[in-house]
Amino acid sequence: MSAEKRYVAAIDQGTTSTRCMVFDHSGRVVSAVQTEHEQIFPKAGWVEHNAEEIWENTRKVCGGALAKADIQNSEIAAVGITNQRETAVVWDKSTGKPVYNAIVWQDTRTDAICESLAALGGGQERYRSRTGLPLATYFSGPKIRWILDNVEGARARAEAGELLFGNMDTWVLWNMTGGPDGGLHYTDPTNASRTLLMDLDTLNWDEEICGEMGIPLAMLPEIRSSSEPYGNVRERGVLAGVPIAGILGDQQAATFGQACLSPGEAKNTYGTGNFVLLNTGTEKVMSENGLLTTVCYKIGENAPVYALEGSIAVTGSLVQWLRDNLGLISSAADIEPLAKGVEDNGGAYFVPAFSGLFAPYWRGDARGAIVGLTRFVNKGHLARAALEATAFQTREVIDAMNADSGVPLTSLKVDGGMVVNELLMQFQADILGVPVIRPVVNETTALGAAYAAGLAVGFWASEDDIRANWAQDKQWDPAMDETHRDKQYRNWKKAVTKTFDWVE
Ligand code: G3P
Repeated sequence: MSAEKRYVAAIDQGTTSTRCMVFDHSGRVVSAVQTEHEQIFPKAGWVEHNAEEIWENTRKVCGGALAKADIQNSEIAAVGITNQRETAVVWDKSTGKPVYNAIVWQDTRTDAICESLAALGGGQERYRSRTGLPLATYFSGPKIRWILDNVEGARARAEAGELLFGNMDTWVLWNMTGGPDGGLHYTDPTNASRTLLMDLDTLNWDEEICGEMGIPLAMLPEIRSSSEPYGNVRERGVLAGVPIAGILGDQQAATFGQACLSPGEAKNTYGTGNFVLLNTGTEKVMSENGLLTTVCYKIGENAPVYALEGSIAVTGSLVQWLRDNLGLISSAADIEPLAKGVEDNGGAYFVPAFSGLFAPYWRGDARGAIVGLTRFVNKGHLARAALEATAFQTREVIDAMNADSGVPLTSLKVDGGMVVNELLMQFQADILGVPVIRPVVNETTALGAAYAAGLAVGFWASEDDIRANWAQDKQWDPAMDETHRDKQYRNWKKAVTKTFDWVE
């Protein structure tokens, strides 16, 4: 076999699983292996992952993906990393052992920390002008603070420079590049922009915010770009010697993989949650309607590109909840036939405020509710209401985006697990009133990370290659009459108000 570099690999360390995908030059998937990890729920509102299990899984899926298609390390031009964002892990730099489980982005335990910071002045908007974010449990900074406050000895060890913090990108990179033996402690601006600790203009850690949050700078990774050769894989065996050359948070990676590379282009990813990102170019647009301002990507030395983001905490994970906690369906795919068995939602609305409500509300005190119940409502209606919740929540963040940008979106590119659901995609187009478009390669998250890595090593020449690789698979056009659409949306909005003020 020749050592021609024919492929780029991507590691996608997501909320429920870790996968490795190998892509060819046309952006097609050549091989993929995926494995799930445990979701740990120690208390109501708490969500944790075992970071060591995730690292083990990362090694396994990389080995598996190469073996599955009989690909040699020497054929891989570069590897990119993409990851669930905000999830925070703190570990000992000399042993590589985490001092606590990773605290997941969905976890709400830092509510009191956020409130005490807000009380210093400025309320929830205290850090908005510098970080683009409201003070909320979603972000990493308060999670690090919680670990330092609650794990015995952690603060002193962090101050002594013995502990490192990372989101999952950094955890994977550090381990792949040698761990305690010289592992690279880097991140990229897309991930750093989700910590509440990074200044959006300078792309550096904001020392004042870190001071207020009680986080020693020594434990924070160096912020590099999203696309550059950071270093080679040190691990013996799988991927050994391959340059790691791309890091993008998963939602930014999907934006990149969807070729939303010009201002005004947007995508919506339907994963455990939904995340709508609108590319705003090198201009940083500050939201006045409950969205986030975030870094979309920074390619090498180029200026950073920013995005407006509408983050929705619970969409696909509501389907999992119906499967795992209620036993309403036995597999996620069963939701569509169940929902198709009825004509409409039967008057039921399901607001899945399981992690409070994210955009555009940012209500840590919200909890889930099903409203509009009568004896007429059956399983099918509930399944339908659960799917509709995804579409209604998307409509809310698109409305906010239209208000912030002043230019209404004319179509929406979609990707992620739920876009195979025809009922949902049609309802999404109906509720938005604009076409919904799915690409041929739906694995846009991993593909985006592969693009970032491949660009850095010249495997792809420029962003034009990415645009040329994008192709449409299917489009859904709105078919619902306006009066009906408006009525349903009004009911949804009313249902949302029933979820507030549940946490004392
Ligand atoms: O911000 C959270 C997001 O990055 C998680 O994405 O696809 O793992 O649910 P996903």
